[in-house]
Amino acid sequence: MEGPWEMLTGKRVLLIIGGGIAAYKSLLLIRLLRASGAQVTPVLTRAGAEFVTPLSVSALAGQKVHQALFDLTDEAEMGHIELSRSADLIVVAPATADLMAKAAGGRADDLASTLLLATDTKVLMAPAMNVRMWLHPATQRTLAQLAADGVLRVGPNEGEMACGEFGPGRMAEPEEILLAIQAALTGGPLHGRHVIVTSGPTQEPIDPVRYIANRSSGAQGTALAAALRDLGAAVTFVTGPAVVPAPAGVTVVRVETAQQMQAAVRAALPADAAIMAAAVADWRVVNAGAQKLKKDGSGKAPALEFAENPDILASVSSGTQRPKLVVGFAAETENVVTHAMAKRLRKGCDWIVANDVSPATGIMGGTENAVVLITASGAESWPRMSKQDVATRLAERISDALAAEGQP
Ligand code: C5P
Repeated sequence: MEGPWEMLTGKRVLLIIGGGIAAYKSLLLIRLLRASGAQVTPVLTRAGAEFVTPLSVSALAGQKVHQALFDLTDEAEMGHIELSRSADLIVVAPATADLMAKAAGGRADDLASTLLLATDTKVLMAPAMNVRMWLHPATQRTLAQLAADGVLRVGPNEGEMACGEFGPGRMAEPEEILLAIQAALTGGPLHGRHVIVTSGPTQEPIDPVRYIANRSSGAQGTALAAALRDLGAAVTFVTGPAVVPAPAGVTVVRVETAQQMQAAVRAALPADAAIMAAAVADWRVVNAGAQKLKKDGSGKAPALEFAENPDILASVSSGTQRPKLVVGFAAETENVVTHAMAKRLRKGCDWIVANDVSPATGIMGGTENAVVLITASGAESWPRMSKQDVATRLAERISDALAAEGQP
């Protein structure tokens, strides 16, 4: 039987090593790729060669390292067009701000950028740069363009940087890049699975211009949809009006009210899993004005009448088309675990991802989350981490649960 270490047998990876301190991790990536059975054709940019030597790269890859655009021997043996197309996947690690900007802008003034422009092969980038460079609007524009062009991405992670600063910008670890390469080449562990993710707040109209909403930004649901997509799932992303933009590469269904969200979720069934991360309003206004409500001069405020919204999570959990795995979220401000355990049973879902959203935690609308995963076997507290990392970890758990026999 084929073990995980031979998963890439016969696959050809063109690895472009850009100029950054993280280039040393790419040497380890070459070893991991070869141990997985892949052939690695290395390309080293001029800046990359300042950080790792051509000799180390070619010795580890067991192949000549390509460095120059105009190399007569290469042109006789293999031109850059052929080089760019002879691979099953092009991996750029580290992908520097400059190299990514060139790729996004379609520039081709050295071998690496020319290969990226000439290729018709899938490209996976592992960005690495200083946190300020990462957060700069120019880099963010570049990333959006690359995502729109279908370029896959792994990382960066948040953490201590070689330059002494802290934040997002650290290149993903070689093991993580290997997993992303496996997902890109083999379809990923969730290939062929359909997952519904709800996200964001809902808006319940009071009249044509006013509504009742909540502070959900949609960050956790969005990160989760992207993480599930990265594992190969076909994701239907049903979102209320969120602050965070919807991820690329998923089917986006935009809704405003809880009732619309329920209809969209029903229409998206059947699914292998449903992950309900939306902050759905519990109530809607039944006497919402058809026209804008006006002050009538009497000083009396209009009386709003409320009706309970459908509980989407509970109805999916008890429905005839129940997905194998149904996951709910519980935003609590006190007794998080007790309330979440009761909620799991009341709603009939398999797991509850519970978190404390008291204002002091800064979680609602923030970038970090501290969650407790409640399953049939108990409560598991995860350390505080970025919503991105919560999403990655949860997506892996979801993938494992779907792969396993029996109930999650
Ligand atoms: O009851 P509570 O709102 O705390 O439950 C939260 C969980 O239930 C979330 O997963 C949320 O998406 C889901 N929910 C729902 N429909 C509602 C209310 C909550 O699907 N009307």
